[in-house]
Amino acid sequence: REVWVIVTAAGSGSRLGAEVPKALVPLGGHPALTRVLINLSQVEDVTGVIVTHPESQRELFAQAVPAQLPYAIHLVPGGVSRQASVYAALELLSEISPQSLVLVHDAARALTPPAVFERVIEGMLEGAVALVPALPVKDTIKQIRPEAAAEDFPLVLGSPNRDALRAAQTPQGFDFERLWAVHQKARDLSADEAKAAPDDAALMEAFDYPVRIVTGDELALKITTMVDLKLAEILAEEQPI
Ligand code: C5P
Repeated sequence: REVWVIVTAAGSGSRLGAEVPKALVPLGGHPALTRVLINLSQVEDVTGVIVTHPESQRELFAQAVPAQLPYAIHLVPGGVSRQASVYAALELLSEISPQSLVLVHDAARALTPPAVFERVIEGMLEGAVALVPALPVKDTIKQIRPEAAAEDFPLVLGSPNRDALRAAQTPQGFDFERLWAVHQKARDLSADEAKAAPDDAALMEAFDYPVRIVTGDELALKITTMVDLKLAEILAEEQPI
């Protein structure tokens, strides 16, 4: 079965305050996206990769694609949201490989080791419907009302049992046909309902597909804040490519 990886890289990275789009932030001398594509070249069984880029920056993103990758590569303009970007990539995949397994991965998780991709692919080939790499949570999570988030001292509603929580990462693995179907259905949802689906696995959950967890990796951290970026820079220095 063909295995395709969608790398979402169309975000602006405004929370980082960097001057380049987040996916092109240099980490140990190489843009984040380049690191993802090189790590993917060490993953067995990858047929092709689709990168979503900010619409106006195709050239810049093309320059971050290393020459001579062992898989096919396509660049697709992303959309206004991550979900819209994934949709655009799935639309291309529906034309070129509708029978495939698909992994959806955030370029912002630039240091994700090849072994994580391999674990997800292996689980999918063994018959999983949807697989999410995840780790136990370190912090105790406090639940508040979303409407209270802007208050100075929002009221705590409760503290879910930590043993019952996992922090989700990417790459998330899916059967293409099912993921494409739920993305098409989700397009018809109102903006409010769509908010309830923060990642692709959540969309599958919303349509009652069984989503399972596979062990993630601390190196798959999502580079979101300045502190994440500093940490990723230090870690990348230790991983020369
Ligand atoms: O903004 P956030 O950190 O949630 O983005 C997660 C991933 O989705 C990033 O890799 C980002 O580049 C990507 N993204 C995208 N299209 C958007 C917004 C985000 O591909 N419109």
